[in-house]
Amino acid sequence: MRILYAASEATPFAKSGGLADVAGSLPKALVRDGVDARVIMPLYGDIQIRDQLTYVTNYSVPVGWRSQYCGLFTAQYNGVTYYFLDNEYYFRRKGLYGFYDDGERFAFFSRAVLETLFYIDFTPDIINCNDWQTALVPVYLNLYYRHLDKFNRIKTIFTIHNIAYQGKYGTDILEDTCGIGRRDQHILEYDGCANFMKGAIETADKITTVSPTYAQEILDPWFSYGLDALLREKQYKLCGILNGIDMDANNPATDRNIPYNYSVANFREGKAACKAALQDRFGLHKDGSPVFGMVSRLVGMKGFDLVQSVADGLVELGIELVILGTGEMQYEAFFSDLAARHPGRVGTWIGFDGALAQQIYAGADVFVMPSKSEPCGLAQMVACRYGTPPIIRETGGLRDSIKDSSKGQGNGFTFAGYSAHELYDACCRANAAYYNKENWEKLVEYAMNCDFSWSVSAKSYEGLYNETANLW
Ligand code: GLC
Repeated sequence: MRILYAASEATPFAKSGGLADVAGSLPKALVRDGVDARVIMPLYGDIQIRDQLTYVTNYSVPVGWRSQYCGLFTAQYNGVTYYFLDNEYYFRRKGLYGFYDDGERFAFFSRAVLETLFYIDFTPDIINCNDWQTALVPVYLNLYYRHLDKFNRIKTIFTIHNIAYQGKYGTDILEDTCGIGRRDQHILEYDGCANFMKGAIETADKITTVSPTYAQEILDPWFSYGLDALLREKQYKLCGILNGIDMDANNPATDRNIPYNYSVANFREGKAACKAALQDRFGLHKDGSPVFGMVSRLVGMKGFDLVQSVADGLVELGIELVILGTGEMQYEAFFSDLAARHPGRVGTWIGFDGALAQQIYAGADVFVMPSKSEPCGLAQMVACRYGTPPIIRETGGLRDSIKDSSKGQGNGFTFAGYSAHELYDACCRANAAYYNKENWEKLVEYAMNCDFSWSVSAKSYEGLYNETANLW
């Protein structure tokens, strides 16, 4: 089986969010199982490990009525072949997205993915595209490449990591930038806009999303950002597969970012040492209270309005808080101010810091993730692996991965309604449970033993790939 995994980011080369973690770890798990999975992504200006890239060739890619340069580079990493598409005008910028011409940049990239197949000795059975940045691949494949021998058997899968970002533009982008004429524009048109994700939902052979619960949720207008009616129509080709995490990159026994390595055999000493170091870093009192940690983009979707409502209450309960993230100004300001108001009890770091993130997973006692919506969520799984039971809201992948420990065997604390009262109640339960040392250690041990590796989910993808390859 040959899979081309098209993504706009992949660790360790470029990352802005969870998509990069999946694109960096799922193909690796597939290759381990004997699947020939390769990744194709843009060559960004600030790409990591640039010295390991080898130049292959270059060609022209149509972008509307224009023709643009595309350089092809390749690298082997963790047994996976990576292809990088180079165009300095589009990709040599600081950061990955958020530019006025993102639509054009990723129309170029999607078209270039297909053009690249003329220049490499690899014809995939399936192209697995991810999110709106690669959503035009199945659209272009059907419109402009199907009649060619090399392309006529290729199937496409479109994976939705977050339906909130659809790649929506004015319809004028279609002809001039995307090169899609009047007759075919209906494929992308939705609600009076050009909508890249809608195009993929129409044209891909299968649609997947990153947890079974999210696959149900996006059929409902509360979660769908307008796409529920279309998805209900296409439900016959939609399914959800829970992501795994990279067990090597997230291993407390070998992680070089944390001050003390530990495994389930010696987590008591290990976590105590990591906790003390974390408390020192933020000048927190070491008085035996639990530390609740958060590592997240500071945006509404992650439930920070709830956290904001209960934060002072948690400090009053004696809980210490550590927050790492960047995002909406109102939350950055709130948490900075919270730390200033509670010296020795709250630590806030506004920024993106991978090493500090691992130190929080290791050093906190409880991890807090009360998302309003969460397609999968990886942080709660990483927290479990580091022996830090999470408090989560029962939505999307959070619901599929974390079970409440007060209702029998569980690996964290959960609540259902999107309300500050329910979050506060779950925090109180976690706080009380923390002081029952014996039971707490059992909970930590159970959380650490949960298997969130790709081994199970990669098998589900392989099943889906086989089914899709034999569709027609
Ligand atoms: C997006 C989602 C997140 C998911 C990740 C990887 O970032 O918001 O829930 O874990 O993609 O699929």
